[in-house]
Amino acid sequence: MRIDIITIFPEMIEGFFNTSILKRAQNKGLAEIHLHNLRDWTLDKHRRVDDYPFGGSAGMVMQIEPIDRCISALKEEREYDDVIFLTPDGETLTQPLVNTLSLKNNLIMLCGHFKGIDYRIREHLITKEISIGDYVLTGGELAAAVLADSVVRIIPGVISDEQSALSDSFQDNLLAPPVYTRPAEYKGWKVPDILLSGHEAKIRDWELQQAFERTKQLRPDLLEK
Ligand code: ADE
Repeated sequence: MRIDIITIFPEMIEGFFNTSILKRAQNKGLAEIHLHNLRDWTLDKHRRVDDYPFGGSAGMVMQIEPIDRCISALKEEREYDDVIFLTPDGETLTQPLVNTLSLKNNLIMLCGHFKGIDYRIREHLITKEISIGDYVLTGGELAAAVLADSVVRIIPGVISDEQSALSDSFQDNLLAPPVYTRPAEYKGWKVPDILLSGHEAKIRDWELQQAFERTKQLRPDLLEK
């Protein structure tokens, strides 16, 4: 999978993509993540990417031209499955949406700033609008990082134990069961006996029951789905 992220602050998320599992995914050739500085696509000598809004309201709006030029150049190189705009008024990101996107080959993610982007970009160039939650960030960069992280980590082979991605919270609409590691007892705090029993089938049953109980208690809305 290839992800192209268009942003005015590539340095904000560069380190994120060069760390840990996302870095490994790229080193293994399972994912390619390219950051594009939008200012490289402006024809303006001051590298401006925004202008005053028509109608006289407050704030600045990101202009069409640099965004169109950048997206067009990318599209000349390959076909894209989706051009995603990260925005608080988009479709809320959920695990099923992440699963769907992880099957794609090429994605563009556009990060907005200021008061927003010229609406014609959304009408003519964007194919999907995604929000990472009902709160407003200073820009789309962290949202693009969240989206790319969630999508790349479930590509087969990225996490060494594939089972571990499939048993995440939200796959199957259940929260994950509690997990423990050595020591089996610390300051008198004990690991549940069942996990030390060596009885594989009973352990799986216990985990499922725990997942169900935790979901019922913490996120009953998931059980209604
Ligand atoms: N940009 C600003 N806030 C955002 C959010 N909640 N989701 C996606 N993009 C955003």
